[in-house]
Amino acid sequence: MTIASFVETIDGVAAIPSLPRSHAVIADESDADRFVLALLRACADAVVVGAGTLRASPAGSWRADRPYPAVADALRELRRRRGRPEHPAVAIVTSRGSLDPSYPVLERGALVLTTERSATRLRASLPAAAEVVAVSAGDVVDPADALAVLRGRGHEILLSEGGPTLLGALLGRRLVDELFLTLSPLLAGRGEAQRLSLVEGAELLPGARLAGRLVSVRRSGDHLFLRYRLGQ
Ligand SMILES: NC(=O)c1ccc[n+]([C@@H]2O[C@H](COP(=O)([O-])OP(=O)(O)OC[C@H]3O[C@@H](n4cnc5c(N)ncnc54)[C@H](OP(=O)(O)O)[C@@H]3O)[C@@H](O)[C@H]2O)c1
Repeated sequence: MTIASFVETIDGVAAIPSLPRSHAVIADESDADRFVLALLRACADAVVVGAGTLRASPAGSWRADRPYPAVADALRELRRRRGRPEHPAVAIVTSRGSLDPSYPVLERGALVLTTERSATRLRASLPAAAEVVAVSAGDVVDPADALAVLRGRGHEILLSEGGPTLLGALLGRRLVDELFLTLSPLLAGRGEAQRLSLVEGAELLPGARLAGRLVSVRRSGDHLFLRYRLGQ
């Protein structure tokens, strides 16, 4: 199954690309949000992110023990009992292939899912630990094929942590089974500078109805934690 995890403000802003640590700012530095993220990563076989999210978090590891260290031991034990390796695999989706080879996640062996055109250049420029897979012949990576590559490697639970463009591509093809959405109590507003919503690059309404069935609502202080099953 494929799940997605996101946080957004009351007024629907999920990213402020010009702002470092935009995710943490939007989440209002919520401990509960970090806990949910850690738990989702601990349950995932592979975490999938778009290159924009990596470029916005160059030091990102997408490991379960990072967002909420106080429960790191318990999450490690959870993975061990489920017969999973210590950390979920990390997959980066890119078509342009504009990735800095010094990103730690690449040094640690991330999978890079890209187009045939970019694959050769990336293989030559990225650290040997990173594995580059040419998923699609065209200008973009077919998101269904990207997920199929991960399933072909035995990864059953896939967690997409964004960003909005990758989520748009996945939702446009109905490839997300569940959405874990944190609604932070903040209002972000919009001005001249670009701010992204949850879904970018895919127009759903009015032509394509995609609705969530609300399967769980939790609250921590003024934050809401919503879990939707998608696809109706
Ligand atoms: N609120 C949240 O929970 C949350 C979660 C994650 C990220 N964010 C924020 O989102 C912002 C980045 O937004 P974004 O929309 O640019 O993020 P993104 O979806 O991670 O990155 C977009 C890039 O990913 C690659 N990509 C996505 N779909 C692709 C496809 N089908 N085929 C090939 N490549 C594909 C492309 O990379 P190339 O350009 O390399 O081809 C594209 O430019 C950052 O500020 C980040 O902090 C917020």
